[in-house]
Amino acid sequence: MPALPWYHKTSIYQIYPRSFHDSNQDGIGDIQGIIQKLDYIKELGFESIWCSPFFSSPQADFGYDISNYADIAPEYGTMSDALQLIDETHRRGMKIVFDMVMNHTSIEHPWFKESRSSRDNPKVDWYLWRDKPNNWQSVTAGSGWHYAAERKQYYWASFLPFQPDLNYRNPEVKQTMFDIARFWLGKGVDGFRLDIFNYIYKDAEFRDNPFTPGLIPTESNPSGFFQKAQYTLNRPESYELAKELRSVCDEFGEKLLLGEVSGNRNTIRKFMGEEVNDGLTLVFDFGMMDFKFTARYFRDLIEDIERYFPDPFMPVYVFSNHDRARSISRLENDIRKAKLLHLLQLTLRGVPCMYYGEEIGMTNLRLPFAAALDPIPHKFESIPRLVFDMLGMTLNRDEVRTPMQWNGAKNAGFSSAEKTWLPVHPNYEAVNVERESQDKSSLLNTIRAILKIRNSESALRRESLEWIDRLPKSVLGYQRKDGENVIAVLLNFDDKEKEFQLSEGKWTCILGLSRDDHFMDDIVKLNSYGGMILKSAE
Ligand code: GLC
Ligand code: CA
Repeated sequence: MPALPWYHKTSIYQIYPRSFHDSNQDGIGDIQGIIQKLDYIKELGFESIWCSPFFSSPQADFGYDISNYADIAPEYGTMSDALQLIDETHRRGMKIVFDMVMNHTSIEHPWFKESRSSRDNPKVDWYLWRDKPNNWQSVTAGSGWHYAAERKQYYWASFLPFQPDLNYRNPEVKQTMFDIARFWLGKGVDGFRLDIFNYIYKDAEFRDNPFTPGLIPTESNPSGFFQKAQYTLNRPESYELAKELRSVCDEFGEKLLLGEVSGNRNTIRKFMGEEVNDGLTLVFDFGMMDFKFTARYFRDLIEDIERYFPDPFMPVYVFSNHDRARSISRLENDIRKAKLLHLLQLTLRGVPCMYYGEEIGMTNLRLPFAAALDPIPHKFESIPRLVFDMLGMTLNRDEVRTPMQWNGAKNAGFSSAEKTWLPVHPNYEAVNVERESQDKSSLLNTIRAILKIRNSESALRRESLEWIDRLPKSVLGYQRKDGENVIAVLLNFDDKEKEFQLSEGKWTCILGLSRDDHFMDDIVKLNSYGGMILKSAE
């Protein structure tokens, strides 16, 4: 079997810099703060980190609105801090990917200011300008066309009005963005997470989107607000762009490109290439965010993913991020379920991507919409919150971005400032790194133990995944193989204990999620929501 590229074997830890660790007591997390915590991530067992953006930005969308791609926002640090971060990550044998927001800039970006200033300037068509809007809706609902009095024209913004979309049909724009990628690759970053990559190209003729009865977009169907997003995303030119960006990266060696894309599995897979993986190296598959906590659901999910992402492709397993609910909030805040979910995530055939704080079981913090720093809820202030609660939507992303809980001290050890940028979750005295480090059976130590096995057992980082059949209905079981090295994983999704025989092969149990998970004389006993990793004894 040929060796897998590193980016198909790795495990990714997502850092939201503003909330990770504050090194200079201003209440805002920063790059030096990340550097101080690299040993923690290393020791936890993740091999790569992805940092949400810390480039120059007015922070209207907390860094996803960039005003200079080649500099760092002062509240996070300096260029030299960023270079030190790359260096310190590499010194620990880990990889680091930055967040590239290619689709749009901030309205404050000098390119946009120039483009907006007149109908006759060198950047006149760096953005998408029209005399009249068509019917296109933005991702955040409502028309995405916004009037600029200076030009007496409308510009297009897929996301929020202060995030104007760049025009990639202008070759200068594309080249400039590729050069920005080269700039950071030249500084040593190991790749990029690509923000709303599937939105970059819109229809060249600006044709109206057709009607669809659906109101609310879902993870696997981004159409909504009564229109099919036919001409605003997943355009053929964006698949091509994936390949071009990949060749830019190839100039620098094996680099990771992780696309934030949306659509059904067939659509998102296309970003990686047709027969060979010559596009993005990985894409998020957000469909799984709506998981049901049953063995049947995950069996179907994994089978489907295996169908769409066979070798030489590799899937990504992700259950939360800075835009979506904390995974434990979808598990009735049950630590046993969280352990099981992460045992699955870290042992499947795929690249796991874990959002900071998931490893200690951080939960959403309910905050009033009116005081939100996130711009999204302000768009919907006229709609009662109850509606979103009923739909299970986390509209206010502040709720999933609260400071990392390091210990039981002031501000959970995140910062010693009087006020932190977002409040610390009041559960920090019980849920924090220091406390969970001392408890052998904590979620944190469980994840450490699983990652340790993942990092030392080559079978868990190969292409193979085979089902173990004839198990109780609520139990999911699979094997991973690398030649003689075989690992089996068994997971009980029921709250009742399960006992069954596992006759094929000779096994040793190398991890049990609960104290009562046992394996002896071919008999497996799994506690409620228990789980186990077995290793072939040959
Ligand atoms: C992506 C980011 C999100 C951001 C949006 C606009 O979805 O994950 O945080 O607000 O793009 O850039
Ligand atoms: Ca700071």
